[in-house]
Amino acid sequence: MEKVYIETYGCQMNFADSDVIAAILTKGGYAICESIEEADFILINTCAIRDNAEQRVRHRVRELRALQSRHHRLRVGVLGCMAERLQSRLMAEEDNVSFVCGPDAYRKLPELMGGVRANGKNGSDGFAAVELSETETYDDIEPVRLSGNGISAYISIMRGCQNYCAYCVVPYTRGRERSRDPETVVREARNLFEQGYREVTLLGQNVNSYCWKNDDSQDFADLMARVASIDPRLRVRFATSHPKDLSDKLLEVMASHGNICRCIHLPVQSGSNRMLKLMNRKYTVEWYLDRVEAIRRYMPDCSITTDVIAGFSTETEEDHQATLELFRKVRYDYAYMFMYSLREGTYAFRHLADDIPEEVKKRRLNEIIALQGEIAMENNRQEVGREYEVLVEGESHRSKQQFFGRNSQNKVLVFDKKDAVLGTYRRVKVNDCTQATLLGELTQ
Ligand code: 5AD
Ligand code: SF4
Repeated sequence: MEKVYIETYGCQMNFADSDVIAAILTKGGYAICESIEEADFILINTCAIRDNAEQRVRHRVRELRALQSRHHRLRVGVLGCMAERLQSRLMAEEDNVSFVCGPDAYRKLPELMGGVRANGKNGSDGFAAVELSETETYDDIEPVRLSGNGISAYISIMRGCQNYCAYCVVPYTRGRERSRDPETVVREARNLFEQGYREVTLLGQNVNSYCWKNDDSQDFADLMARVASIDPRLRVRFATSHPKDLSDKLLEVMASHGNICRCIHLPVQSGSNRMLKLMNRKYTVEWYLDRVEAIRRYMPDCSITTDVIAGFSTETEEDHQATLELFRKVRYDYAYMFMYSLREGTYAFRHLADDIPEEVKKRRLNEIIALQGEIAMENNRQEVGREYEVLVEGESHRSKQQFFGRNSQNKVLVFDKKDAVLGTYRRVKVNDCTQATLLGELTQ
């Protein structure tokens, strides 16, 4: 049996996809291996969201040449968003890549890889499966949990995106939005719980536009309620949501289920209305702040996290100041912060100049990072003395004597192991903190 090594880059959705790919290949007669040295095929599941993500993958692909020169049967395939975006161009530019396969074509992988093997030659341009689909959700495939810890798992509930934010390549690499049959989602979550998992994260590019068969009684809030009702010991999280679709109905469902985690990732992208309009985000700063207020009204203890882009087309100092001001107002618990990266094919690529110099982008990004660092530290200091229910998830990276786990707000707590058991809930009191971690102790 030929062995396949899968390496994953990018978002949570890609990690969930790799688990689906592993299931398809296992069924197709391949064995998944954990050591790259044993592999007959290396599959790289890629991200195309920013140029640096792509450069990282290209660097990695080139690095694999050394391995290929020692192991002549070894073939490299590129999957995911970069495969979709670049298609055969990628094989022309990186001649040690034998095939590419986009996010909706993974069922074809066994056939594709069979073709590569039969053909026997490296770098053929004949092996590309990049057709996007309006219906594929892989809902009948039970993922093989590759990087799982047996405690926490991802469940993908929808695919694609059609919001067309001006800067974003995702609608082109992942295709149209489509929701997965809720029965299959609930079944997957229940199976995981029965296997001992205690946390599921429902995934989609924009989960709150989830809707099954255009039926308002089968929207994202309804799905959350169903998954949360499986068992109170199963924590439910979700990512990622678009502010324009964050409904009160969802907040009500969250507030009425203690096991739906008090954490909402609400990407803002910019604090300037002019930028938001140019980005085609379809909300204003005022709308966004109203949603933040609604979250805090329903769940005063809910943490809020975000994504932000520095240096989008024509961004002025004033726009940038507005972003900093918004950060001061919302006081995020965590933020993913990026410099704008122009992506081919997007609306911005066709119509807007990438006119903010690199140094200015960098400086603005650093100002946001510094401010957010202070806010996160101040937020964490307020946690000292509080006590939380924590799901014990693994050994601390710093000490074998300590475990780490997360509270409902998704904050990481580190504490002495004592009699704690992985995959169970324990109460932990916070004694100290850093910017990223709460340091505590078991209370019973
Ligand atoms: N440049 C920089 N950041 C981007 N993102 C998406 N596209 C780009 C881009 N072209 C960021 C957004 C999004 C997150 C997943 O990545 O903040 O929410
Ligand atoms: Fe990209 Fe906007 Fe869709 Fe998010 S919502 S994936 S930023 S287009």
